[in-house]
Amino acid sequence: MAKIRNLLFEPCIADVSYDFLEQSKLYCFQAKEYSERLNAVMSSDYFMRNISQHSIELGFCEEYDLLTTDHLPPLAQALNELNQLRNSQRNFNQENKISLEDLSHFLHLSYSITQRFDPAILIPPRRNIPSGGGLYPIDIYVINQHIHELPQGVFIYDIFTNKLKLIRKFKDSDELNKALNKTLFAQQKNDIDYTRASAFMVLGAELERSCFKYLDRGIRWAILEAGEIVQAMYLASASLEVGCCAIGGFNDEALAQLIDYQNPSQITLLALAIGK
Ligand SMILES: Cc1cc2nc3c(=O)[nH]c(=O)nc-3n(C[C@H](O)[C@H](O)[C@H](O)COP(=O)(O)O)c2cc1C
Repeated sequence: MAKIRNLLFEPCIADVSYDFLEQSKLYCFQAKEYSERLNAVMSSDYFMRNISQHSIELGFCEEYDLLTTDHLPPLAQALNELNQLRNSQRNFNQENKISLEDLSHFLHLSYSITQRFDPAILIPPRRNIPSGGGLYPIDIYVINQHIHELPQGVFIYDIFTNKLKLIRKFKDSDELNKALNKTLFAQQKNDIDYTRASAFMVLGAELERSCFKYLDRGIRWAILEAGEIVQAMYLASASLEVGCCAIGGFNDEALAQLIDYQNPSQITLLALAIGK
């Protein structure tokens, strides 16, 4: 009898892909050089002028005017307004912090189930973002700093039960600060007001969830999906008058330890600060 393969339990990510993921990690010893490079780009007129006007050079070609967006239907108008409002907010209010209600709305608008599982047609529950094969490789973790209805700690957002599950509780603010310094380089970087941010989101991918079907190509879909979620987070923030800023420079290994990833196929793709 032919052996039935259980693809769920076969290794599906190539060593060279793991090499690439390792190469793209940021370690503590590289943080200084990394932020110097970022500052060199951002403080240079030459680089900023050139990157702000980049376009693909096509030479001569026919051009057609697009129409204005003066007469949009109501929902499209709402989306247009959110697009105008969306931005990266790096400074947060000392007195005003976000509430559990703000966080609940934020998570629901950013990432939630929009259509339940239908056993008759074997379609997985649909979510507010598209996903290659409906496999949804991204998990959202929340590091709470100032949301007073919750303990200071690390949670996973359970999209199925609409609950935050506590993974790790910090003893006190000191332990939390140490963790933020280690994982987000909070003290070393002056890009974002880390101490006043109410909470941090961490977008973690379980690559096997996507790669068991798409092999190494699934890594692309996971990275894309983190992009979709972060854009949804920015739009959710704009709609709720919550400030947010993506964080690309983090200590991969330290975050993996803090969150307690179980497999090498779990990696952090992006973090995000939120606050008022
Ligand atoms: C993948 C990614 C990583 C980012 N990392 C950082 C970061 O580490 N620190 C920061 O201050 N902003 C970060 N940002 C925010 C960008 O700098 C910001 O989106 C960009 O300057 C455009 O500004 P806007 O979002 O206000 O339109 C990041 C954005 C993305 C998409």
